[in-house]
Amino acid sequence: MSGGKVRAVNQLKIAGRRVFLRLDLNVPISGEGADKKIDDDTRIREALPTIQYCLEQGASKIILCSHLGRPDGKRTPKFSLEPVAKRLAELLGQDVLLSEEAIGEGVHQMIHHSKEHQIILLENIRFYPQEEACDMDFSRQLSHLAEVYVNDAFGTAHRKHASTYGMPSVMTECASGFLIDKELKFLNKLIESPLHPYVLITGGSKVTDKLKALENLLNYVDRVVIGGAMAYAFLAAKKIPIGKSKCEAEGVSAAEQILKKAATHKVEVVLPIDHKVAFPASDPDFKNPSVVDEIPVDAVALDIGPKTIELFKKAVGDARTIFWNGPVGFFEKEQYAGGTLALARAITEAKSVKVAGGGDTLSAIAHFELTDRFDLCSTGGGASLKYLEGKGLPCIEELRGK
Ligand code: 3PG
Repeated sequence: MSGGKVRAVNQLKIAGRRVFLRLDLNVPISGEGADKKIDDDTRIREALPTIQYCLEQGASKIILCSHLGRPDGKRTPKFSLEPVAKRLAELLGQDVLLSEEAIGEGVHQMIHHSKEHQIILLENIRFYPQEEACDMDFSRQLSHLAEVYVNDAFGTAHRKHASTYGMPSVMTECASGFLIDKELKFLNKLIESPLHPYVLITGGSKVTDKLKALENLLNYVDRVVIGGAMAYAFLAAKKIPIGKSKCEAEGVSAAEQILKKAATHKVEVVLPIDHKVAFPASDPDFKNPSVVDEIPVDAVALDIGPKTIELFKKAVGDARTIFWNGPVGFFEKEQYAGGTLALARAITEAKSVKVAGGGDTLSAIAHFELTDRFDLCSTGGGASLKYLEGKGLPCIEELRGK
């Protein structure tokens, strides 16, 4: 890491200036149309201190920017930030305008004609293909909306995108927000002096995204516990049947490599030994789970089974540091929440430093009302895994010396 220090938002002159604030407001949303509902608003609440600070300092306008889901560069109503704008307005006690456009005349007019200290949320920035392509011209156009740039999107700090990575290189006054600062301070302790045994628990989706980080983390941890969709890649790599469970070929070859490296580094890998499955052909809504030791060819695994719950409990029991990223089952559906709940409880009971990370994990913990029992609930899943490798995160590195 080089290029000087990262300036914090409280070292910037904010009063009377337009602030562009990149956040990660990528929250789980269910339902459709008027019934849309935010299932967990942790990421929105964690963004409040920096927004409130900018308001207290007298920012003339605060332009908020975030992505939601993966709309792949297309304007998709399902991924609109409208419910997020509403929730933000409730939490802040002031109205939040939603701008359909992030660039062009319309958004400039909206900012210009809005009242002093107005908060304007740009619609999902990933509706523009230029965002994920990190198009520098797009970054430049976004930079014309404000005079100062603040990044507090920890959950996205591992992605080199136009609003996270491109903008700091074209703006002169840049800083990180309070959430990034809080997350880094805690995670730095895990990097510098983790207590052992250090247990990494990983599950959830975005399997191929996480495998690289997992491979690198084998240098630091003593044990890896793998559940959820991630586990099927590993079972497949060990030629254990996974039926119709979700699994990408790319994931299987990465899992093979990881198993080899774990053996060389003497890192214990704990995998599920039984499963809760459903048979999609006769039960498309997965209403009737069965417990099996081996996943039948026509079944899909949706949770860990009771033997695995005991195995996982034992695997976290003696831990002194636990990092958990990713639920181990389809916890949103009651029939398949048991494994994730039992694991969450076992973690909270361990005499260990307990860190959970990622949108789905935080949502599960909040659903079980266990949030207060963790030392850190990191808003970053992929980002925190990557950061724990100890090499910094591109978007935070890009803020150095600015
Ligand atoms: C996350 O949920 O991990 C972040 O918001 C990043 O989302 P992404 O994996 O779609 O880039």
